[in-house]
Amino acid sequence: MADAVQNSLDIVHLAGLLKAGRLVAFPTETVYGLGADATNSEAVLGIYETKGRPRFNPLIVHCADQQMAETLAEFSPLARRLAQFWPGPLTLVLPRKPGANLSDLVTAGLDTVAVRVPAHPLALALIRAAGTPLAGPSANPSGKLSPTTAEQVIKGFQGLVPVLDGGPCTSGVESTIVAVEGGTATQLRAGALPRREIEAAIGQPVAIAAQNAAVAAPGMLASHYAPNAKLRLGATAPRPGEAYLAFGPAPANPLGPLRNLSPAGDLREAARNLFSMLHELDALAEAIAVAPIPHAGLGEAINDRLRRAAAPRPRA
Ligand code: TXA
Ligand code: MG
Repeated sequence: MADAVQNSLDIVHLAGLLKAGRLVAFPTETVYGLGADATNSEAVLGIYETKGRPRFNPLIVHCADQQMAETLAEFSPLARRLAQFWPGPLTLVLPRKPGANLSDLVTAGLDTVAVRVPAHPLALALIRAAGTPLAGPSANPSGKLSPTTAEQVIKGFQGLVPVLDGGPCTSGVESTIVAVEGGTATQLRAGALPRREIEAAIGQPVAIAAQNAAVAAPGMLASHYAPNAKLRLGATAPRPGEAYLAFGPAPANPLGPLRNLSPAGDLREAARNLFSMLHELDALAEAIAVAPIPHAGLGEAINDRLRRAAAPRPRA
């Protein structure tokens, strides 16, 4: 009882922190998540900084119920059948709903979004109290093991991230990730929910994505946003015909479109603008020259993403 009272006080307080853009670690049935308001890019950047993650991977968005998930993603009939596993350790990668209130750092520029409803009463209570979906990778520093107790989270982040203590996680293995494209389901990551169980429930096979299908496959299996335009990195000035994605003080681009990731040379601002500006220039030009970005702090993740965007794409 004392615990329950303590938890409800905690939840109000921690939900307030989330709404204010702070990070809060929370329990799920799989592993502890490092939560941030998924609608707030500043908050989502905190996830990368706190984990020390050197790249922008799309993040799972935790919802209180299917209704909340349906505000973010388009549910086909098959997706609705898969949602019978919610709350539970199944993440669905679905087309992002146009106009969904979601930071594009959560989807890393993709037009799909990964959603799940976790089966932990405290996680659901926290999301409801915050009134916003929570982006949340596992709550460990990059390269370390996923935590299954609040103590591990506290230790991993040296007490810098507040943790909602829900006891030990029951599964300890991350959620199974399934991408739904029309009437087909493809498992992108094996996890706590066995594929056979999913197949039995939906009465149809679930394909397994090839080793690096997440990178190479066409359509929605791609987990990396790739612009159509050709990218030239480390460009101190645009050439004729190129759009220019600048960073820091930059000359005008009289010959083509120009966006500036951060005129002040601020890497947080640049990270916030990265995907939207790439999308904008991609729609305006066949070639984009990108200014050199310092490699410190968030610059590492920005440069990683730019390198991937510039890499020649495998043919579908
Ligand atoms: O059990 C779990 O799933 C835990 C708990 C905290 O919920 N979360 C978790 O999140 O494992 P994370 O961020 O470590 O895993 C995200 C995975 C990545 O492998 C990412 O590539 C994939 O989900 N993913 C996310 N959005 C995607 C998208 N739109 N398309 C393809 N893959 C996506
Ligand atoms: Mg992880």
